[in-house]
Amino acid sequence: MTQTNPFRNRPVAVIGAGVMGIGIVQVALLAGHPVHLFDVREGAAAAAAEQLAATLAKLADKGKLTPEDVAAARGRLSVASALGELRDAALVVEAIVENLAVKQALLRDLEAIVGRDCVLASNTSSLSITAVARGLEAPGRVVGMHFFNPVPLMRLVEVVSGLATDPAVAEAIAVLAADWGKTAVHTKSTPGFIVNRIARPFYAETLALLQEQAATPAVLDACVRGAGFRMGPCELMDLIGHDTNFAVTQSVYEANFFDKRFQPSLVQREMVDGGLLGRKSGRGFYRYPEGGAKTDDGEAAAATPALPLVLHGGDAIAELLAARLAASGLGFTRESAHAGGETSLRIGGGRLMLTDGRCATERAHALGTADVALLDWPVGPAAAATATPVVPLAWTVAAQATPEFAAQAAAVLRALGWQPQRLADVPGLVVARTIAMLVNEASDAVEQGVCDAAGADAAMTLGVNYPAGPFAWLAQWGAPATVRLLDALDAFHRGERYRVSPRLRRATWASSTPPGSTASPASPAAR
Ligand code: NAI
Repeated sequence: MTQTNPFRNRPVAVIGAGVMGIGIVQVALLAGHPVHLFDVREGAAAAAAEQLAATLAKLADKGKLTPEDVAAARGRLSVASALGELRDAALVVEAIVENLAVKQALLRDLEAIVGRDCVLASNTSSLSITAVARGLEAPGRVVGMHFFNPVPLMRLVEVVSGLATDPAVAEAIAVLAADWGKTAVHTKSTPGFIVNRIARPFYAETLALLQEQAATPAVLDACVRGAGFRMGPCELMDLIGHDTNFAVTQSVYEANFFDKRFQPSLVQREMVDGGLLGRKSGRGFYRYPEGGAKTDDGEAAAATPALPLVLHGGDAIAELLAARLAASGLGFTRESAHAGGETSLRIGGGRLMLTDGRCATERAHALGTADVALLDWPVGPAAAATATPVVPLAWTVAAQATPEFAAQAAAVLRALGWQPQRLADVPGLVVARTIAMLVNEASDAVEQGVCDAAGADAAMTLGVNYPAGPFAWLAQWGAPATVRLLDALDAFHRGERYRVSPRLRRATWASSTPPGSTASPASPAAR
């Protein structure tokens, strides 16, 4: 059932004429609302109105708006010089400074001005909506309306409900957001809401890998881009600004009572302390304006695969290797995996296998064979059956492997159409480890009622442009492989960081019980 938008064409007030406020005004104006803009800073709202007029004129020049649209939108905007001028608003969206006491005071003042049915929305990115609404006469009308920057371009709006938020108010805001061309996702008021929470591992795993000396920022970025992300974590942190990114991580960490899962990184703090803030300071992981460094693709370029190749296994990764082997023209034979055997590509006496969260040295030790190489989870472009375009893929080799085997493994990966990027022997490499942690965090968010799975996928694809949502990756890799990887990381590192989400653990057991199976373990009484 499509609901009608109760705010359609009614006056909207935006408070705070900063980067977010201006964007919200633009969207509301173009959706047909009369809009009041107020800012406590003298002249700020008028200057923002001028800036907006210039933006609208540019859109008209590009043919995206007609001159009539622009004139009508400009005519609907009024710059308010006092809060009292907002009294006819059906909706107020505040986008003022991120300070709880200041936001609470503003909402208290507004309660005395606006009508009883006026909805008070906050664009806060980190404060609790429950806390923002505290002390009001009607806290039920307060809701989070979390836009993403730049507001006119980013499609996601997180609709945040605090403990007191009236569900009808949250629903009305979701309908309004849809009318404004946005995708609304409902979330509970918890630290980081959806996007800023689930995204933490995207940065954290790469920062941990840098601390573990796994590879350079350029190599890690290249591997993550190879999985279909538009930007690697290092270049994205440079773009966001390390001060901002660190502050968000710190606030999610503190808000979760210092849960080690969210612990900030020493690597990043050192950069913040040193003023290496990224693009805005001219230097972060990279120097600007040049930006990201090139990765070295000359690895093992001289070697050509010379050893006999035998592919064992019949799962998805075996099929991918088989397709790429066939296309490469390398001769190979194929044998099905023996019971309990893992998919592997035998290269002479050595093995190339998929990472399962254990490091290569451990797996070589467990197998009793020195020559073991592991590859990262091929995801997105790296998982294409054909090797165009050639994308980077992380791999590693056991400490006890011979240099000759390592050179052969690299040559085989190259012949299969990847650009092999050798990491130190870290467990879970980079893409597998990062995606497994994104899936884990998303599973916890759903487990804790923060959002549903579809909401998490929509939030991550629309809010931060991920190439897929966490639950789409989970469907691809399955809970058992994801949990195995996380458990291996947990066993290796010890601590809370890699603890598996209860939801994921349950999904593993559920997926390994045959449908319709009646076999059950002994009853609790018998245990
Ligand atoms: P900003 O600093 O660019 O603008 C804030 C504006 O609010 C300033 O013009 C300031 O004069 C005005 N202001 C401060 N106190 C006021 C008051 N009591 N009454 C009226 N005006 C007041 O900030 P920005 O980046 O636009 O952020 C605004 C809000 O949006 C914050 O809550 C922030 O956390 C949130 N947000 C920011 C995002 C971003 O990427 N910048 C993304 C999503 C949310």
